[in-house]
Amino acid sequence: MAQLPDGLTITWLGHATFLIETPGGNRTLIDPWVMNNPSCPDDLKDPGPINYMLVTHAHFDHIGDAVELASSTEATVVAIAETARWLGSKGVENTVDMNKGGTLELDDIRAHMVHAVHSCGITDGDQIIYGGEAAGYVIEVGGFKLYHAGDTAVHSDMALIGKLLKPDVAMIPIGDYYTMGPSSAAEAVRMIGAKTVIPMHFGTFPVLTGTPDDLRREASDVEGLEVVDLEPGGILGA
Ligand code: NI
Ligand code: MN
Repeated sequence: MAQLPDGLTITWLGHATFLIETPGGNRTLIDPWVMNNPSCPDDLKDPGPINYMLVTHAHFDHIGDAVELASSTEATVVAIAETARWLGSKGVENTVDMNKGGTLELDDIRAHMVHAVHSCGITDGDQIIYGGEAAGYVIEVGGFKLYHAGDTAVHSDMALIGKLLKPDVAMIPIGDYYTMGPSSAAEAVRMIGAKTVIPMHFGTFPVLTGTPDDLRREASDVEGLEVVDLEPGGILGA
């Protein structure tokens, strides 16, 4: 298993929501969906102080609490340009409207926005608004790299992400139906190259049927692979 640097922690809040805390005390929430996230433990529905939010795409199960948490925490919200501008129109004061391929310094974090294969419509009342494209992030903290793939099908850019950014830990969806399931996730693991994998986006709804054991079985050929069994609320690192 990848050894996280001292003081770097990854907390799974259920579904695709993760809190990254750095040794410098930077608290970054990926995909802010807590209040109505059935997988989020009650004591984490208020995640406390947040410096940054990284949004992979505009579906409710990733962006559901972005506006409210931005207001209560004054966090800066990073998203692809169209979704960031929509958040701004909803009253989020501090937004960063970046795009894929770009890199951003957020205090002691470097965030790379990378490709994902998924849709990104924004539900706004009874309308669906164009939200740009779904993305993932590679987050560097002191040379250590975490890849959050977002919602995605398996795609060949994962090999490029593995080659160029060399993630140490990968958070990948395995639930199937809206994203890749276990057998394509196993191919993703082969391309990404990270030997520590945190499965996400499974079990939250009945259609998300993939399990970590399925991924373990499908990826049993990958030498040294550790599929981490976090429970929602569980923490990697210390
Ligand atoms: Ni989605
Ligand atoms: Mn989703």
